[in-house]
Amino acid sequence: MSPSSPDAPMDAPTDATVSKCPFLRGSVNVPAADSRPITQRLKEDNWDLHEQAEHDRVPQAMVRGEMSREGYVELLKQMWVVNRALDAALVEARASTPIINDLVSDRQLQEQYLRADLEHFGVDVNTIETTDAARTMIEHVTALRERDGHALFGLHYVREGANNGNKFVAMKLKKAWGLEGEDGFRYLDPYGKDQRPLWEDWKARLADYPLTEPQKDAVFAGARSMFERIIALHQDLESLALA
Ligand code: HEM
Repeated sequence: MSPSSPDAPMDAPTDATVSKCPFLRGSVNVPAADSRPITQRLKEDNWDLHEQAEHDRVPQAMVRGEMSREGYVELLKQMWVVNRALDAALVEARASTPIINDLVSDRQLQEQYLRADLEHFGVDVNTIETTDAARTMIEHVTALRERDGHALFGLHYVREGANNGNKFVAMKLKKAWGLEGEDGFRYLDPYGKDQRPLWEDWKARLADYPLTEPQKDAVFAGARSMFERIIALHQDLESLALA
């Protein structure tokens, strides 16, 4: 399954240029602002990366119910490592970046769900060994925490949006393993029946949030980097998670 295709044709390319000064129009190029809401841009212009993120071997094994429980636990371990770092960075950045303070709630922090799932599967989180791809992602989070709160928020947008597909993945895995209930699946489906309304509400608040053009660009760049790093994490885990 894919996110529904953008129903409206794409607006003019974002690098279109036009001068605002009538005397200079035609002779000096000033970058035109992207008139789309940031949420539309995030969805439409990350389409290519979502396609890849959805169709790589690890997510496909999950959504087809072909992943073993052992493989799933290996994935949860690395997700715990990176999301713990991202949670901590976001909590710290609430003080300096208003959009993080206003739009990242405690309920959206993901370490709590991953820890509960891992405990359910009998894993002591203190014994987890970090893979190379997870380490690279943590370094990225640390760098953004220090220099760019809006890009950090872009990372969070991707993991929050991924809940849409993850809910479906959880359903398929439970069916394949003959399981019911929430235990072991809180990370994939943290909000249960509230998933859709919570996502719609959060997206509306993000669309209305006052951001400058450079801040929007930073959110967008952060989102792309998160897609790329999750793809790398999944690829790095292929031998462990698909064994
Ligand atoms: C089998 C894997 C996946 C499936 C089946 C899937 C499916 C979906 C679906 C159905 C939506 C909702 C689309 C809508 O509201 O119109 C969605 C949204 C989204 N997914 Fe995925 N997805 C998968 C993997 C991923 C991965 C691995 C990531 C992150 C790396 C991801 C990130 C997102 C994001 C950010 C959104 C929100 C898009 C928006 O702005 O509306 N997805 N996905």
